[in-house]
Amino acid sequence: MIRIAVFASGNGTNAENIIKYFAKSTKAKVVLVLSNNKDAKVLDRAKHLNVRSLCFSKKDLNNSDKLNKLLLKEVDFIVLAGFLLKIPNSLIHLFPKKIINIHPALLPKYGGKGMFGMHVHQAVKDNNEKETGITIHYVNENYDEGAIIFQKKIAVSHADSPLSIANKIHKLEYEFFPIIINKLL
Ligand code: GAR
Repeated sequence: MIRIAVFASGNGTNAENIIKYFAKSTKAKVVLVLSNNKDAKVLDRAKHLNVRSLCFSKKDLNNSDKLNKLLLKEVDFIVLAGFLLKIPNSLIHLFPKKIINIHPALLPKYGGKGMFGMHVHQAVKDNNEKETGITIHYVNENYDEGAIIFQKKIAVSHADSPLSIANKIHKLEYEFFPIIINKLL
């Protein structure tokens, strides 16, 4: 059984969707949810779904010996789903081509530090974009710059608000993220 860890900083609806998808799989399973935010709703979701969770500080992540050891021992593949901190190089080197992220825009547009969640959708709206989408990519040393694995576009109309864009993007994420993870395992 391939053991997946999901990193998330907030609500964790993608984490929940991924956990549920792999609960039915004979190939892989989410064994650990990790968050840098002790108040993150994703921790309640993990508890509810009987998945072990772990909370750490930014400092723990960057002095990552302990965390790295635990991950090396206990997981095979790492998924970032709404995780807002930079993954340290040491961890990237321990899991080559085994850490992926989802970004709620068509990278390289609207990526980089500070570009997350509603900030992205607001910027898409402010720039009158005609389309946006999701990008699933490998994680490298720079925010949102790793090799792109998958993108899916959707149209944006004048009637869309940042919130309606966010809702459409979430739908795409729920549909495609688990399938793409499954293909990569
Ligand atoms: C998702 O839309 C994800 O793409 C985005 O945060 C949201 C988390 O939602 N990630 C980023 O913006 C990363 N730069 P969720 O907590 O409900 O899964």
